[in-house]
Amino acid sequence: MAIEPLTLTDTDQTEQDKKLQEKLKSTGSIPTHIAIIMDGNGRWAQKKGNIRLHGHKAGVESVRDITESCAQLGVKHLTLYAFSTENWNRPAAEINGLMKLLVQSLRDEAGRLKKNDIKLVTIGQIERLPEKCQRQLQEVKELTKDNSRMQLCLALSYSGRWDITEAVKQIALQVKGGAINPEDINDDLIGSFLSTASAPDPDLIIRTSGEFRISNFLLWQLAYSELYITKTYWPDFRRDELYQAIYSFQKRDRRYGKVKNGHTKSISASVINQIIS
Ligand code: IPE
Ligand code: IPE
Ligand code: MG
Repeated sequence: MAIEPLTLTDTDQTEQDKKLQEKLKSTGSIPTHIAIIMDGNGRWAQKKGNIRLHGHKAGVESVRDITESCAQLGVKHLTLYAFSTENWNRPAAEINGLMKLLVQSLRDEAGRLKKNDIKLVTIGQIERLPEKCQRQLQEVKELTKDNSRMQLCLALSYSGRWDITEAVKQIALQVKGGAINPEDINDDLIGSFLSTASAPDPDLIIRTSGEFRISNFLLWQLAYSELYITKTYWPDFRRDELYQAIYSFQKRDRRYGKVKNGHTKSISASVINQIIS
C-alpha cells in the first residue's frame, strides 16, 4: 500500500486555530503586507540563564509559526528583520552563531516553504554574508521562485539608510546618463529604486520586546504603516499574539493625513473667518 506523503500544508493546524483565523478574516481586512522587527532573543535567553544564541535558536520556531499563520490568513507579503547593518558590530562569536543558524534553518525549512507555496526573497547587503549563507539563500530562492501564495522577505545585513542611499546612487546615475529627468523624480519613482520594489509598503509593522524604535528598518516604506509594539520577546511571539496584532490593526482608522469619514462637512468662508479672527 502506498504511503500518503506527509503534507505539511495546513494539516498541522488545529480546528480551533482554523476557527480563529476565520473569525479574524470576518472582523476586518487582513493586512496585505506585515513587517516585523524580531527583537528580544538575547534577553529571552538571558532571563532563562542561557547564552544569547539559545534565544536566536528559539526564535526560529517563531519565524516558522508566524510565516505559516500569515500564509494561512492570506497575508501576501511578510518582511522579517533578521540582521541589521548595525548588527555586524556584535561580538564575532554571536555573528558566527547567527550565520550558522541561518544556514541550518534555511536547510530545514526549504521543503516546508516549497510545500506551503511561499516564495523566499531577501533585501540587504547579501554579499557581506558568509559564502555558505549566500549559497544556501540562493538555493532556497531558486527552489521557491515560482511560489505565489505569499512572499517571505528576509532583511539581512539590511538598513533603511543603506536602502535609500543605494536608490539615490542609482537614480543619480540614471539622471547623469539622461535616462531620468530630475523633474520626474517622485515618491513612486524613488520607491521603484528601493530594494523592496516588489512589495507594497507594509500595512502593519510589529516590534517585539517592547522597544519603541525603528532601528533603521524600512525608513521610507513605513511612512503610513500602523505600529504594533508588544513587550513579548520574539521567541515567545506566536500566532495567538499575531492575531491580536491584526485585530488591533483592524480597529485602526487609517486617515493618511485626511479627515475621518463623516467629518467632512463643508464650512462657509464666513464661519472660517469667525473662528480664526
Ligand atoms: C533580535 O534579538 C535578533 C537580532 C537582532 C539578530 P536580539 O539579539 O537583539 O536580542 P536582545 O534585543 O538583545 O534581547
Ligand atoms: C533590530 O534589533 C534589528 C533586528 C531585529 C534584526 P536590534 O536589537 O539590533 O536593535 P536595537 O539595537 O535595540 O535598536
Ligand atoms: Mg535587540
